[in-house]
Amino acid sequence: MAGLDPVHRDFFAGGAGEERTVRANAAAFDRLRLLPRVLRATGTPDPGLTLLGAALPGPVLIAPTAFHRLAHPDGEVATARAARDTGTVLTVSMAATTPIERIADTGARLWFQLYPQPDRDFTAHLVERAEAAGVTALVVTVDSPVFGRRERDLRNGFLDLPAGLVCENLRDPATGRIRDIVMDPSLGWDDVVRLRTTTRLPILVKGVLHPADAAEAVARGLDGVIVSNHGGRQLDGAVATIDALPAVAAAVRGRIPVLLDGGVRRGADVVTALARGASAVLIGRPVLWGLAAGGRDGVAGVLTELHEDVVRVMALCGAATLADLPPDLVREVRP
Ligand code: FNR
Repeated sequence: MAGLDPVHRDFFAGGAGEERTVRANAAAFDRLRLLPRVLRATGTPDPGLTLLGAALPGPVLIAPTAFHRLAHPDGEVATARAARDTGTVLTVSMAATTPIERIADTGARLWFQLYPQPDRDFTAHLVERAEAAGVTALVVTVDSPVFGRRERDLRNGFLDLPAGLVCENLRDPATGRIRDIVMDPSLGWDDVVRLRTTTRLPILVKGVLHPADAAEAVARGLDGVIVSNHGGRQLDGAVATIDALPAVAAAVRGRIPVLLDGGVRRGADVVTALARGASAVLIGRPVLWGLAAGGRDGVAGVLTELHEDVVRVMALCGAATLADLPPDLVREVRP
């Protein structure tokens, strides 16, 4: 990507270990084909949906990714403007390089991603701050009891943000200093449920792959699950998300929304995920590439092209709405 420091490009593109799971997310979509229906006189498809009570124009949301100001000087504000202008949701990473209040000033619909910190008071402060800024859901990332081993970053010596950039939302309210993000191996379901005492926001858990964990999220009264392997950046060797999705959807049985991220690049991927039981999908790296290439316009371009591709693929599959994407639309083929 022109203009992007190769070290930062590696940070965005890379994954853990051998990057098997980074590749698997995309390769798994390559093994799936669509079996379209014809002559259904559906007219122009409407990919709109209602998610957690909000009407959205389409099923593609923005996954939380760290450090947008590494990609573009306008950082998360540019991403948020693109989300606002296309009507989608931006999930703001806890590791954003812009304060949540400034991102919210754009008027975009925001969710906030949280790594619950061992310091519960600070976690509560973070959640209260995000809620006060106007975010409409909390996304708790649960696939990160420890940091994944990102070997590109180790080779490049990329350990910290360059001077002038910080994780603005980790500012300690008492001292004003920026705290480090702590990955907490002691985090459990009770800690996630306890967030209810701090916030009225809906809570989604991000990073679920096993159907039993999805069932637990339902049993614990949580509001949504995101089938994710962190874009292959945490457990290298983890199953591809589109392969994990059917069992998760079967375990959840429609009681709460199931979302998916990882390797979604084309309208056919979106339609495949929805046919396999997702309510919506999120994209991570494509947004970063759009941001690096052209700030707000670059991100808006990525979102608009993908939206239009979803509409086109729906039409080519004979679907009028997202409800017309049944499981028998997807066939597995040998590579
Ligand atoms: C991420 N992801 C991520 N997830 C999260 O919960 N908190 C975070 O701060 C980040 N940061 C982050 C940085 C970068 C550079 C990437 C690429 C990813 C994971 C992200 O939310 C999502 O799960 C994946 O990016 C989805 O896969 P694709 O669309 O990038 O293939």
